Amino acid sequence: MKKAIVLGGGGFIGGHLGKKLKEEGYFVRIADIKHHEYFPHEEICHEFIKCDLTDPKAVELVIFEDCDELYQLAADMGGAGYIFTGNNDANVMHNSAMINLNVAKESVKKKVGKVFYSSSACMYPEHNQMDPDNPNCEESSAYPANPDSEYGWEKLFSERLFFSFNRNFGLDVRVARFHNIFGPQGTWTGGKEKAPAAMIRKVAEAEEGGEIEVWGNGKQTRSFLYVTECVEAVRRLMKSDFQGPVNIGSEEMVTLNQLAQIAIDVSGKDLSIYNIEGEEFEQKYGFKCPLGVQGRNSDNKLYREKIGWEVSMPLQDGMKLTFDWISSQVQNKKPLKV
Ligand code: NAD
Ligand code: GDD
Repeated sequence: MKKAIVLGGGGFIGGHLGKKLKEEGYFVRIADIKHHEYFPHEEICHEFIKCDLTDPKAVELVIFEDCDELYQLAADMGGAGYIFTGNNDANVMHNSAMINLNVAKESVKKKVGKVFYSSSACMYPEHNQMDPDNPNCEESSAYPANPDSEYGWEKLFSERLFFSFNRNFGLDVRVARFHNIFGPQGTWTGGKEKAPAAMIRKVAEAEEGGEIEVWGNGKQTRSFLYVTECVEAVRRLMKSDFQGPVNIGSEEMVTLNQLAQIAIDVSGKDLSIYNIEGEEFEQKYGFKCPLGVQGRNSDNKLYREKIGWEVSMPLQDGMKLTFDWISSQVQNKKPLKV
């Protein structure tokens, strides 16, 4: 039986990844600072260790000797409302960097077979993402570096960290740059949620005939990848000889207003969109409207070429599945057991 460790498996993508690995017949150990809020642990792992991975002693305890594959997804992260306000920069940089420093070192010490690291499209330079209709997120465009957030800078640093452990200590690494990933069992409320979950929550909570708020002018663009396709892409990268860094995302770029309209359409409700920005936003929320880059889309040429597979689920289908889950959460308003 192959053995895997999923760090950050108490979170959204890590939970889905643990489930997939368990279904594939792996022994799965998860470590996270919190329990999974939406998956029963027996569905996603054999062992769950609740610990703080910024502590090297915890990482020493979690990573065992004969681990075949380690997936490093633990990070201090969230959507635009968390990483672009500037208020969480120190924690984001410190906590995520500490985790990655600990994990890289301990993985070498324990001779882990292969390590997967989840970087982010937020590491791409801001200057290539100013035009909403023509963003450039080709892997080769990463340098000269100019990410628009500290979160992006930390991801860039940690990519380099894992690759330097590969060069100097022979650690077998795979690095993917996730674009915006969405789906059920993900954060949908509380301030760390990303746009797809936020749109769906607002739609689910809105009265028929009402309106939902979209931050900014709604013309900024993104692409959104459904979580099971993300997990499949990770598994295929892990099985391949290609180390990356490589994008994992969708190429179906939409504006934020189009995303909001899809959320409305899948709900079947009659709702309108209200764009809130500038002073109006600041007065209402007490901080500047967190917008991030103007345009972003995944470029999957390299993944297709190296792995020979591509994601295919239409955004609308993923949004429907996510709507069904989030609307049931809204109805139940379950208290979180963190
Ligand atoms: P998530 O927040 O749901 O999962 C991250 C997990 O890390 C959380 O469960 C959190 O509790 C855990 N964690 C944070 N600090 C910890 C600590 N000190 N010790 C132990 N655990 C800790 O996020 P996600 O969406 O599942 O993202 C997983 C990974 O993918 C992250 O590294 C994230 O930066 C990256 N990523 C995600 C997206 C996306 O759209 N979801 C996009 C780009 C990159
Ligand atoms: N979160 C959120 N909530 N964003 C909104 C909302 C809302 O209610 N309304 C509009 N937006 C806009 C944001 O202002 C931003 O311009 C855009 O939607 C996308 O926001 P997010 O989905 O929160 O984040 P992101 O795409 O800028 O960054 C995400 O993807 C990266 C990878 O591509 C984050 O998840 C990052 O952590 C991740 O690395």
